[in-house]
Amino acid sequence: MRKKATVIGAGNVGATAAMRLAEKELADVVLLDVLEGVPAGKALDLTEAAPIEKHDAKIIGVTGDYAQARDSDIVIITAGIPRKPGMSRDDLLSTNMGIMSSVTREVAAVAPEAVLIIVSNPLDAMCHVAYEVSGFPRNRVMGMAGVLDSARFRAFIAMELGVSVENTHAFVLGGHGDTMVPLPRYSTVAGIPITELMSKERIDALVERTRNGGAEIVGLLKTGSAYYAPASAAVEMAEAILKDKNKILPCAAFLDGEYGIKDLFIGVPVKLGENGVEEIVEIQLTDSEKEALEHSADAVRKLVEDMERLKS
Ligand code: LAC
Repeated sequence: MRKKATVIGAGNVGATAAMRLAEKELADVVLLDVLEGVPAGKALDLTEAAPIEKHDAKIIGVTGDYAQARDSDIVIITAGIPRKPGMSRDDLLSTNMGIMSSVTREVAAVAPEAVLIIVSNPLDAMCHVAYEVSGFPRNRVMGMAGVLDSARFRAFIAMELGVSVENTHAFVLGGHGDTMVPLPRYSTVAGIPITELMSKERIDALVERTRNGGAEIVGLLKTGSAYYAPASAAVEMAEAILKDKNKILPCAAFLDGEYGIKDLFIGVPVKLGENGVEEIVEIQLTDSEKEALEHSADAVRKLVEDMERLKS
C-alpha cells in the first residue's frame, strides 16, 4: 500500500520537502497551509512536473482541511515564521509556539499513529510543544536539525579538501542553535577522521561556519531562511522511517537520562525506522564534548522555561 505523508506549511521548506518526497516516490503527499490557493497551486504545479520527473506520487494541496491528513504515516511540520536578518532562531519563540500548538492538536486528532518530524524554529523548543500537545510516545516525535547541520559541515569539508561529498560523514549534536556541537573526531572522509586531514585552525573555521550556517543563508536571502538543505534533511529522515531503514542520523530526540540529560529534546544520534526513533545511540564523548553538549542542553532548557512563562 502507498504511504501517506502530510507536510504542514506550504512555504519554501514545506513545498520543497513535498517535491522531494514525491520525486523519490516515498509517499503520496498532502501539502497543507492556512493560506488560500497557495498549497493547491504548488501541489498542482508539482503534479504537472511529475510526467517529466517520472513519478506517480499523488500530491494535493489543501487550505486548513486537516481531514485530508487523516491516517498519514508521517507528518512534517514546517509551519511558522522564518528568521529575518539579525534575528536568532530563539526570537521566533512566542509566535511559533502558538502555531505549533494548534497545528499539532489538529494533526494528532486525524493522524494518531503518525510519526511527527518537526522543522519549525526554534527547533528543540518546538519539539517540546509538539510532544506535549500530541501526547504521542517519544519515539514518534522528533526534530530535524542534526542532519541539516551535519550536511552543512560535510559540504564545507568536501569544499575544503576537494573531495566528493559522498566521501564525507559528519556528526553535529546538541541544540539547533549557536550552541550546537559539531564533533570533528567523529567526522570523516572515506573513514579517515578529519582531525588527520586538516589543521586545527581549518577545522575550527569550518565548525564556526557550520554553527553560523543558517544565519549565513538568512544574511544572503534577506527575506527568509534556508530551504533546499532543510527540506533534504527532513526527507532523509522521512525516507529512513517510511522504508524502515534503521538508519542512524542525528536528530532532536526526547532524552530520558541518555547522555545524562532528562526530559529534554536535543540533537543526538538516533536509529530511525518504521516506529520513528527506534533507539537513541549513546556514543563516547570526551569531557570537553560532554561539556559542550551540556551547555547546549542548558540553552534549550532555558527556552523551554521561557515557553512555560509565556504560557502563564
Ligand atoms: C537553518 C534554519 C532553517 O538552519 O534553522 O537554516
